[in-house]
Amino acid sequence: MSRPPKKKIRKKKLFKEPLQSPKGTHDIFYPEILHFTRLERICSELAEFFGYKRIEVPVIENKALFEHGVGIGTDIVDKETYTFQTKGGDWLSLRPEFTSGIVRSYIQNSMDNWPEPVKLWSWGPLFRYENPQAGRYRQFWQADFEFFGPLDPIVDAELILLATKIVKIFGIKQSFVEINSIGCPECRANYRKVLKQYYHTKTRKLCSDCKVRFKKNILRLLDCKNETCQEIKKGAPEILNYLCKDCSSHFQKVIEYLDLLGIAYILNPQLVRGLDYYNRTVFELKAGLAEDAAKAPALLGGGRFDYLMKLLSGPDVPACGFAIGVERMIELAANKEENEDVDVYLAQIGDSARHKLIVLLEEFRKAKIKIGFDLARDSLKAQLKSADRLDAPFALILGQEEVLHDKIIIRDMKSSLQETINLADVVEEVKKRLAKLKS
Ligand code: HAM
Repeated sequence: MSRPPKKKIRKKKLFKEPLQSPKGTHDIFYPEILHFTRLERICSELAEFFGYKRIEVPVIENKALFEHGVGIGTDIVDKETYTFQTKGGDWLSLRPEFTSGIVRSYIQNSMDNWPEPVKLWSWGPLFRYENPQAGRYRQFWQADFEFFGPLDPIVDAELILLATKIVKIFGIKQSFVEINSIGCPECRANYRKVLKQYYHTKTRKLCSDCKVRFKKNILRLLDCKNETCQEIKKGAPEILNYLCKDCSSHFQKVIEYLDLLGIAYILNPQLVRGLDYYNRTVFELKAGLAEDAAKAPALLGGGRFDYLMKLLSGPDVPACGFAIGVERMIELAANKEENEDVDVYLAQIGDSARHKLIVLLEEFRKAKIKIGFDLARDSLKAQLKSADRLDAPFALILGQEEVLHDKIIIRDMKSSLQETINLADVVEEVKKRLAKLKS
């Protein structure tokens, strides 16, 4: 019998080239996604331990929130926030950070009626229209921690402790804290004057952005990454010499607590951070060695923002917090090849074994034993190879013969020794063997 002729269907290509994700955005998938979920888990566990409750705030907020929160005159608001007008005429912005949204939520939901302190944390994507480069994305993720409560230097130190713990547990071996105090509005008013005097004769050499900053927001001059501006910055007066008594004593105590907690830090008197709401303690945590501080990208940054709540028409509540750059952490993850180690690998041969295995998987899941399996594979050799790749200490083998007699083979992957046991005992047997391995 001759086959009917195949119809040739010509589909016109919709695009000359396949579409790419928008500039500065990226997909997160295997193997990076393993680090991503691990970091979220570490943050979540430590948040619980330190008493932080999770909060989710919208990705869109009123444009005015960031203009007043982060501040007009900052790069984030002036250049990097995605803002648009809705069909209804409202001006909205994609959140470039969490802090302002969380403060807005605190006020809106009267969280000042909650028992003090209120500790909140969040995890999610943020948007900044930056020039994409290593470690800088237009959509990126942060883990954000905010503390609302008593103005005590122990709070600043405890937050820095939490930040260093997350970084350490995640596996970043070399990192250091940079810390500074930018005082209260009064200290800064005095400091701005001396800074203006210092830069007064140097404005011609500054980059075009800094020329504007000199007029609009002189502290931002200390934040510039331009090489010439950085050189000029080296001779600038240091804010620590212009702190009032209270700010100075607060900073001194934060430092003492860090010493007590054994947290290594370096004082960076020119650290001002790129957001306007900060006062007193500001800090960043950088990867690598302190000698390379100038070049090192910040893994996280934060500080006090005692005046933001009031500025946004809320109660007078001091606050302190930090945010971790998730992509920067992932890029530095100690072991790029995040292993997916499993406790045991389940191999099967034949249909009846496959059916039994589906039930067995559920039992292992309930017992919280990490299992590897591949139901689409029938070859024992290929399955044992996968068990090896996943570093499983044991493999369980279920063939027709075993199914028939309610048995299962347990194989020690290191010694290749095999033993046949009752299927009903398999979870307990695996548990026992794993416990022995760990002891
Ligand atoms: P931030 O310094 O703007 O602070 O951001 C915190 C961290 O987010 C940075 O240290 C960096 O790791 C990461 N990050 C920032 N921009 C990007 C980007 N374009 N691409 C990739 N990663 C980036 C804040 O956002 C404050 N809200 C932190 C805070 C919380 N302060 C008090 N509470």
